[in-house]
Amino acid sequence: MYNSKIIGLGKYLPEHVVTNDDLSQMMDTNDEWIQERTGIKERRWIKEGTDDTSAVMGAKASRMAIDRAGLTKDDIDFIVFATMTPDYYFPGCGVQIQDMLDMKNIGAIDIRNQCSGFVYAISVADQFIKTGMYKNILVVGSEYHSNGLDKSTRGRGVTVIFGDGAGACVLSREEDTTKGILSTHLHSEGKYADKLIVEAPSIKHWVPEIMESKEDLSYFPYMDGTFVFKHAVVRFSEVIIEGLMKNGLQKEDIDMLIPHQANLRIAQFIQKKFGLSNDQVFNNIMKYGNTTAASVIIALTEAWEQGKINEGDNVVLAAFGSGFTWGSVIIKW
Ligand code: COA
Repeated sequence: MYNSKIIGLGKYLPEHVVTNDDLSQMMDTNDEWIQERTGIKERRWIKEGTDDTSAVMGAKASRMAIDRAGLTKDDIDFIVFATMTPDYYFPGCGVQIQDMLDMKNIGAIDIRNQCSGFVYAISVADQFIKTGMYKNILVVGSEYHSNGLDKSTRGRGVTVIFGDGAGACVLSREEDTTKGILSTHLHSEGKYADKLIVEAPSIKHWVPEIMESKEDLSYFPYMDGTFVFKHAVVRFSEVIIEGLMKNGLQKEDIDMLIPHQANLRIAQFIQKKFGLSNDQVFNNIMKYGNTTAASVIIALTEAWEQGKINEGDNVVLAAFGSGFTWGSVIIKW
């Protein structure tokens, strides 16, 4: 048995910044409401006319991660790609990365677990490395939300939250099993699927049906925000504690918590509950909004770039989202 270890991190954010004031030109909202409820000041949205998509942004972040790992594309044995906004209904974005990076004919899978997507993706990659099947795996999280949001006042409760972006890491074999990813913890509760959902187009509810009716808005995300919030704070706490207990760690042992960037208020609630200082929790939702499957890996990359994660640190990743799904990853950096 081996452990897996992150040896390279990358990110890509589209250049186009959309501030809360920009949103108030499109819909009835305002900077004060958005900042007070979510902590978000601005987000990145892909500008019309550019080539960026979930796969293209994922490829850009991947090149950076592979480069920083000191590897080449030919050293990668497998691709795991997390997104809820793939370029195509099928095939998934993982195979596009294989092509865009001109890689060998390695395997590629997509993970569809929304805000928990990256935590699920890294957990899947970790298993392949632990068993010895693969040595270096590229794990990507990328989302292109902006093209699928309702930008009228009708959609304001959801649209102001989401941003576009991508992150990637290279997970590699680590012989010392006291280092790297120590454990991962995954959960789901499908009875709440309809609380945060994009219902269509789906095979059950296909495009011609939607086009027949002007009132059918099932292709826009629906979210019961208050319900999601209440469950998020409980599940985040539970799954972090589960991970700490599994490894004989106390909350005081956390050097860096990277929570999925759903809402700054959720992250602050968790921070307070665990008695962590500002240096022990990393947030960047203020700049990027909620980038779903990309949020944890973008935040991890930025925390590392800013020198906030050092060798030997206990790093905790945690996420909660649509499904509901939630999970945590405990890492000895
Ligand atoms: N601008 C201004 N007003 C808005 C608004 C916006 N963007 N969005 C909603 N409102 C209004 C609502 O219409 C409502 O008005 P009313 O009282 O006249 O009906 C009021 O603000 C309160 O709406 P509500 O949805 O109850 O707000 P909230 O306090 O629950 O905050 C969220 C909304 C979305 C910020 C919050 O519920 C949340 O963050 N939930 C978790 C979401 C999340 O994490 N999702 C990602 C998956 S993990």
